Amino acid sequence: MFSGTSRTGLEARLVARPKGLPGPGDFEIIEVAVPEPAVGHVLVRNLFMSLEPAMLMLIAGASDLPMPRYEIGEVMYGAAIGEVVASADPSLGTGDLVMHRFGWREYAVAQAGLFHRVDRDAYPTPSIHLGSGLVAYVGLMDAAELRPGDTVFVSSAAGATGTMAGQIARLKGASRVIGSTGSPGKAAHLTGELGFDAAFDYHDGPIVDRLREIAPEGIDVYFDNVGGEHLRAAIEVMSPHGRIALCGSLDRQSTGRPDDGPGDLLSVMGKRLTMRGFTVSDHRDRAPEFSTQFRTWLSEGAIVYDETVIDGLANAPQALLDLVKGAYTGKTVVRFGT
Ligand SMILES: NC(=O)c1ccc[n+]([C@@H]2O[C@H](COP(=O)([O-])OP(=O)(O)OC[C@H]3O[C@@H](n4cnc5c(N)ncnc54)[C@H](OP(=O)(O)O)[C@@H]3O)[C@@H](O)[C@H]2O)c1
Repeated sequence: MFSGTSRTGLEARLVARPKGLPGPGDFEIIEVAVPEPAVGHVLVRNLFMSLEPAMLMLIAGASDLPMPRYEIGEVMYGAAIGEVVASADPSLGTGDLVMHRFGWREYAVAQAGLFHRVDRDAYPTPSIHLGSGLVAYVGLMDAAELRPGDTVFVSSAAGATGTMAGQIARLKGASRVIGSTGSPGKAAHLTGELGFDAAFDYHDGPIVDRLREIAPEGIDVYFDNVGGEHLRAAIEVMSPHGRIALCGSLDRQSTGRPDDGPGDLLSVMGKRLTMRGFTVSDHRDRAPEFSTQFRTWLSEGAIVYDETVIDGLANAPQALLDLVKGAYTGKTVVRFGT
């Protein structure tokens, strides 16, 4: 039996459904009593949670996502990693490091089966378990069917998925990797630390013109994190039989409005292009293979893991907005207090 304690923790709730992007008043962060786990449950103290652009669509109540929207008055959810601090189930013990979906709160109490134990020694920091490498990997390998020698273009290349997609494309045999991003500084980061062959600021004139200059040979694979003008431009510049992996919709997520679409699809037919949407949850069977490769690449220094850490749950709502405004590079995570 477990007795009650006076432990409390912060949690973030949605208090209104905004039209367009949310403001700070659409969230409340409150301190609540943390119960001890009932039989079959565990209590987890969160260490890090993931911030993701898709959370803005869950706040807006979008119905076309493969996950439930956030409900007003309820704690929001999202990927997080934490440490078991009390267990009433034999499958998990105190001190275990676990991944789960109970983000946006300092403590999570739930059935043990909803927590997935991960290797404490896998990475230099537990936050790397929250990274977007698997998304990038399956987008390239399964959706885009990457081949050695391909010229690969990645949009939002300095973001969580983009930083991984560009580097993994290179490691998997791409001959040229090109990225687009939102500032000259981020473009320099891509061609410097992250080893992209070329990068451009998408504010710097029509994207189709930048792509034609940078990829006169055409593009074989486009990893689309953005939609809108990026997708239309890529379709124009794709080589015959090119493959587009539709990963994200940052154009829409950053404005709160649907983007204006892929345009005339005549070139998709004429050039026999493939456009394939994917969601990482359909490809979880790739996780062990990816994890083995990723750990090897990290230990050999073959890949750079780029991450921005925001301290404290209270700062998370503003950080979510800043994320899609381009304030950060790499994977953005919130670190909980110790
Ligand atoms: N299919 C799946 O299974 C799956 C899984 C995870 C994520 N996703 C989606 O993939 C996309 C990328 O996710 P992520 O977590 O890696 O996000 P991210 O790229 O880290 O997102 C933040 C970045 O978005 C960029 N951005 C914002 N508005 C933009 C616009 N209008 N045009 C171009 N770039 C813009 C900003 O970079 P700049 O400074 O460069 O503008 C910002 O740094 C998201 O749409 C996400 O929902 C899909």
